[in-house]
Amino acid sequence: MRKYVALISFLVAGLFLWGCGESQDQQPATDNTPKFEEGKTIMVGFSQIGAESSWRTAETKSIQEEAKKRGVNLKFSDAQQKQENQIKALRSFITQKVDAIILAPVVETGWEPVLQEIKQAKIPVILVDRGVKVEDESLYATLIASDFVEEGRMAGKWLAEKLGGKGNIVELKGTPGAAPAIDREKGFHEIIDKYPNMKIIKSQTGDFTRSKGKEVMEAFLKAEDKNIDAVYAHNDDMALGAIQAIEEAGMKPGTDIIIVSIDGVKDAFVAMTEGKLNCSVECNPLLGPAAYDAVEKILKGETLPKKTIVKDQLFDQSVAARVIDSRQY
Ligand code: AHR
Repeated sequence: MRKYVALISFLVAGLFLWGCGESQDQQPATDNTPKFEEGKTIMVGFSQIGAESSWRTAETKSIQEEAKKRGVNLKFSDAQQKQENQIKALRSFITQKVDAIILAPVVETGWEPVLQEIKQAKIPVILVDRGVKVEDESLYATLIASDFVEEGRMAGKWLAEKLGGKGNIVELKGTPGAAPAIDREKGFHEIIDKYPNMKIIKSQTGDFTRSKGKEVMEAFLKAEDKNIDAVYAHNDDMALGAIQAIEEAGMKPGTDIIIVSIDGVKDAFVAMTEGKLNCSVECNPLLGPAAYDAVEKILKGETLPKKTIVKDQLFDQSVAARVIDSRQY
């Protein structure tokens, strides 16, 4: 009799383990046991790209301030625009055994190996602002970002209307390989290519910084002289650098040369109220609350949508003065 009981117990236990078991491939990106409890401090690693623009500084502030508000123990790392620094930071977050990682990836590719290591360590990854290109989407939990292609389209539509479908455009592009640089170029082209008399006569990266934006615009002005009707800058900081270059060349930005950019930072609104910048498409950097909501949900064992799109709007000189005081970044 005892033999039968032992055999039955053995079979039941075996069945139970078989039911719970998962092959290596099927393993979820995160440990399923809820790690989030009200009142318990969680440790989060945030790998930030750098401080190349006012937009980036606003994003960092939002993520740091929200951590303070929620009592999150935040490990912050600034990669100074270098992917290898971000990879190092991610590895150190694994060593520190953080509960979750927030990553703003500088470029789209080259993340698989380190994301695999993070997955092995069962740490969930929340991507903010920029996406990554990976074959296995389970390497990250969710992405919270703007639709950069749509931002490019919005800028293109506004400019086509402003120029009446005709003009020479110079383009100041973002960091090569970065999602917003790739997508904002794509979206803008989608619109501009429909107008045979609108031409992008020069296009070069300004690395999302004010100083490089100015430098590249100086070179464009030297090469093209009075042949430029408009500037399309992938972010406000490069547009603000271009404004300086145009003024130093003795021209009136916003009048002699039309300027459209993306971000909607405070300085862009100031430039619009001064008549120097014509239009800025907003890209909201205040991602802290959404990022920690995602962290908490995933640590509670909830499933998240693979992507959450942040809604943006367009502002031009006609509304800038009215809304400038309500801008939060
Ligand atoms: O990824 C968002 C972009 O990166 C912002 O437009 C830009 O200002 C920043 O550096």
